[in-house]
Amino acid sequence: MGSSRVTVSTLAALKAGGGKAVFVTAYDYATAAFADRAGVDMILVGDSAAMTMMGMPNTLAIGMTEMLVFVRAVTRAVQRAFVIGDLPFLSYQPSDESAVRNAGAFVQAGCDAVKCEGGRAVVARVRAMTDAGIAVMGHIGLTPQSLAQLGGYRVQGKSLDAARRLADDARALEDAGVFAILIEAVPAETAALVHDRVRVPLYGIGAGPHVDGQLVISHDLLGSFVGEISPRFVKRYAAVGQTVERAFRDYADDVRTGRFPSPEHCYPIDPVCESEIRHARLNGALT
Ligand code: KIV
Repeated sequence: MGSSRVTVSTLAALKAGGGKAVFVTAYDYATAAFADRAGVDMILVGDSAAMTMMGMPNTLAIGMTEMLVFVRAVTRAVQRAFVIGDLPFLSYQPSDESAVRNAGAFVQAGCDAVKCEGGRAVVARVRAMTDAGIAVMGHIGLTPQSLAQLGGYRVQGKSLDAARRLADDARALEDAGVFAILIEAVPAETAALVHDRVRVPLYGIGAGPHVDGQLVISHDLLGSFVGEISPRFVKRYAAVGQTVERAFRDYADDVRTGRFPSPEHCYPIDPVCESEIRHARLNGALT
């Protein structure tokens, strides 16, 4: 892991050398700074912010206005990692122009690249963005913005036909100029088949080991997601939610019982001034 900024060339070289890219989501300044200092290679400012940061039931109602707040916080924090802004629902589907304008807004806010969901159906949008000089990551498999069409958060690519369709989608995206593709929620063997059919890096989330890097949503990894969703593929590395809740309980307890603040949490002053103030207070003197 070098200290210089990660670029599309760094990522291509990592793949060529057989290395695995480390990829997480982040939506705020502190998490992005910690992830960057820890040496992750890529940070996705995902539209999963709708659920992780805003408590929404899915990703469909978050828009560019909210995403740009999260994107700016992350890009201000990051010094090394490659930052990808996730184009939210209806920011690129309506037209090539909407795709270029909104992707451009992410780039102006400091993103290195953008991500959009879909395979062959979105190649025109991808081409419009790559023609505008914007680095684009594709996203196939389980695409949460098509939740209703997919019939829920379901594993994709479970048959040979479905795996071949995913490989065709991946190749179409590659032809449209993506620098990488993310594949979500597919069996490991399906991801391996797609991996073998494209030259660009293929990253996985819930797609097994035969890919060029792993993405995990930071709230899942850190144990700070508020809600019931607990995907099978997640490995938890901390219990941040429990730690935070315990800290708030201990604080509340200390405030209510008078244990906080104690003398070490108070600003000291010259003892003579302190006794003059106390004397004035106890004698009711106002001047
Ligand atoms: O928004 C996000 O975090 C994503 C991942 C679930 C792939 O798109």
